[in-house]
Amino acid sequence: MSDSTGQQRVQTGVPNAEAVLNGGLLPESATLVRGTPGAGKTIFGLHFLTASNEPAVYINLGEPAAYLETTAAQFSLETEHIEFLDLSPSAEEFQGDQAYDLFESGEVETTPLVEQIRQTVETIEPTRVLIDPVTELRYLAPDERQFRTQVLSLIDFLKSQGVTVVLTSQAAQSVTDDDLQFLVDAVITLEATADRRMLTVPKFRGSKTRRGPHTVTIDNSGMCVWPTLNPAAYHRDGEISTLSSGVDELDSLLGGGLSTGTISFLTGPTGVGKTTTGLQFLIEAARNDGRSVLYAFEESKRTMFKRAEAIGLPLAKYVGDGLIVIEEIDTDELTSDEFTHRIRTEIEDRETQVVMIDGVSGYERAFRGSDDPAYELLKIGRYLRNMNTTGIIINEIHEITGDFRATEHRVSHLADDIIVLRHVEYRGELRKIIGVLKKRTGGFESTLRTLEITDAGVSVGEPLSALRGILTGTPDWNDE
Ligand SMILES: Nc1ncnc2c1ncn2[C@@H]1O[C@H](COP(=O)(O)OP(=O)(O)OP(=O)(O)O)[C@@H](O)[C@H]1O
Ligand SMILES: [Mg+2]
Repeated sequence: MSDSTGQQRVQTGVPNAEAVLNGGLLPESATLVRGTPGAGKTIFGLHFLTASNEPAVYINLGEPAAYLETTAAQFSLETEHIEFLDLSPSAEEFQGDQAYDLFESGEVETTPLVEQIRQTVETIEPTRVLIDPVTELRYLAPDERQFRTQVLSLIDFLKSQGVTVVLTSQAAQSVTDDDLQFLVDAVITLEATADRRMLTVPKFRGSKTRRGPHTVTIDNSGMCVWPTLNPAAYHRDGEISTLSSGVDELDSLLGGGLSTGTISFLTGPTGVGKTTTGLQFLIEAARNDGRSVLYAFEESKRTMFKRAEAIGLPLAKYVGDGLIVIEEIDTDELTSDEFTHRIRTEIEDRETQVVMIDGVSGYERAFRGSDDPAYELLKIGRYLRNMNTTGIIINEIHEITGDFRATEHRVSHLADDIIVLRHVEYRGELRKIIGVLKKRTGGFESTLRTLEITDAGVSVGEPLSALRGILTGTPDWNDE
């Protein structure tokens, strides 16, 4: 495989890692994979050695070969082409005094360990070599300087044999490995916190990389990278058209409907009808054979079906047809990077035209482990817009009546359109109203209308010209 400039690349074998590494590792280079215990260095190394069927050598100084083979099998990684040079503490070579001699001699070329590695490499002629963990050699070298010299000469030898090398380093705050980072061409840092695993590429000589940290997951199929979303990297041409709500009065309010390829916020307190109003647009898109995905962070699919059925919305029909997909996202189920990857798959592989996120609070709750969920949502909005996809974002506000502040969230400046839903008191009765606060493309009505949700569906009334002062506070009805 080659990168954007036609340069050959070596696959790491970790799914999606090539997106971060601009195609892969450089051939005949040395990469240091560093991280705390359990960060996934060995699993990364196993992916690397099994990414091709060409002869490979695993120089294992930590876990014994049998354990590594079991680990690989657990992830269905085929190890038949791998020669293990077992230098783990439990291996025979390391028993007794002999172990201490391995690095005893000052002469690099004549040390038994290095000699053993050379012989193995010359016999096997591997294209990939893993030294896991290279930091074990530190304890075998007489001093730091000789450790560095030994490692450097080993790297040089391997590269001269046409080998692409991965070395792992057990790095912790108390044990730095800066010296090793200087000796290699690329550095990949793996991190594991209570909330998530991450991968960063702080150094990559001769190549571009994607700035991280990127999310990493480990499950029964092994390690996978979920690159962070970079909206600027995406663009799709398309005409701006209008997405109708299917309710004439609502369309009039919106100057025809929602503009496709823009981001609309439906904002209002709980129970005012935000989700239902949003669903209207998905149903209309489906009526015209457009595919939508609704990411439900606040309520279950079942509740949504029940409500739609109660008001006569044919949601179940279109879900059955595959034109509307509802994905329930539970708290802590996914990381934000995995979520954006799902959205990308919908848009890039399945031609999804409308994405609805219900809603901002649930989204932020679900991804509270990420550094800045609001910023992530902003990036999703930019991506949708760049991909000419229509975004509908439900934003719950906490006041039931009163001030018409559109949103309490920083994300509101992402909105091209803001549709406001409110409860107001009118002659002792609580009514729902709907209005448009902002629309970036085209005109819209500046009046408010009543909104009713009954078993006959969503209905929007005539403009309420008598309603005043709603933007500043408690509304004032001027018709009495
Ligand atoms: N099937 C699995 N599903 C989920 N996580 C797994 C699975 N198998 C292993 N892991 C996780 O992978 C991690 C171990 O990865 P690995 O052995 O590659 O780490 P390491 O960085 O090499 O650690 P060390 O420094 O101790 O050698 C552990 O955190 C473990 O929880
Ligand atoms: Mg390990």
